[in-house]
Amino acid sequence: MNPPWILVEDYREGTGWVDPGQGDARAHHYCELLERGQILMFREPPFALPAGDREFLLAQEWTELRLHKNVSYRPNEDLLKGVSDDSGTIDCLRSIFRNYSAAVIGLVGKFLEPYAGKCAIDFSSFRPFEEEGRGLPLHKRNDLLHVDAFPSRPTHGGRILRVFTNLNPKKARVWNTTEPFEALARRYAVDAGLRRFAGESWFSRTLQDWFRKLGVRGMGRSPYDMFMLRFHDYLKENRDFQENCSKIRLEFPPLATWLVLTDGVAHAVMSGQYALEQTFLIPPKALVAPEQAPYRILEKIAGQRLVS
Ligand SMILES: [Fe+2]
Repeated sequence: MNPPWILVEDYREGTGWVDPGQGDARAHHYCELLERGQILMFREPPFALPAGDREFLLAQEWTELRLHKNVSYRPNEDLLKGVSDDSGTIDCLRSIFRNYSAAVIGLVGKFLEPYAGKCAIDFSSFRPFEEEGRGLPLHKRNDLLHVDAFPSRPTHGGRILRVFTNLNPKKARVWNTTEPFEALARRYAVDAGLRRFAGESWFSRTLQDWFRKLGVRGMGRSPYDMFMLRFHDYLKENRDFQENCSKIRLEFPPLATWLVLTDGVAHAVMSGQYALEQTFLIPPKALVAPEQAPYRILEKIAGQRLVS
């Protein structure tokens, strides 16, 4: 079983690599660790995150927003979602998200240099609610182990990289993880319907391909994307797995910042309040260890291509 996380101490906010001459090699090494299912953790954000911005986020009255899972921001459109408040507050929040997002994009461009200019910038989010005992519907529950898959953003084998920061000044954010993706896939993928998705007809694949070319949102899924959406739900529905699988507990202290490929690392958020997060999609051609990608592992099990 992997150790819970790897503490990064050779890269810092402001100055970057402690030994700039080793930067390229270290960046490649960290990308490989992520792709192999490790979680990388910094004790403090390795990018600018002003105390004033953090305090503003913590000081808002978020209870009226309970209809939303969290507050999200789309950097490419400068669009804030999930907030209904007076326009001054919204402008301020948008500006905080814009700066935060730019800072994390800068981090990834340098700290994970092999991905620079190749990854798609996805959404960022702020999670202002206590995760313990939220009472969400089963498939939306964060406290059940799962791997991530986005209904509206198929990745076609690309990886989902997420950068989290625990903004809570007093309480840790607590996760559970379990065995590596390959072990889970070998045990459960066939039961979850892998062969059915791998056997998608030529007609269905061509149709999805056309939707993709036309840019229809949430369509154009490869068999891999369809399987991963199913696998996300399957794992949450599987009571035996949730109750009896081996678990590793991770406690991310206040201000800890961690990076993880959440399509390959099963995770559950057990407790914690106030996390900031930015997501990236890493295309297969940018991966440094492509054989570790879930789509390649699943293709091996299925004996068929899942991504065209
Ligand atoms: Fe998740």
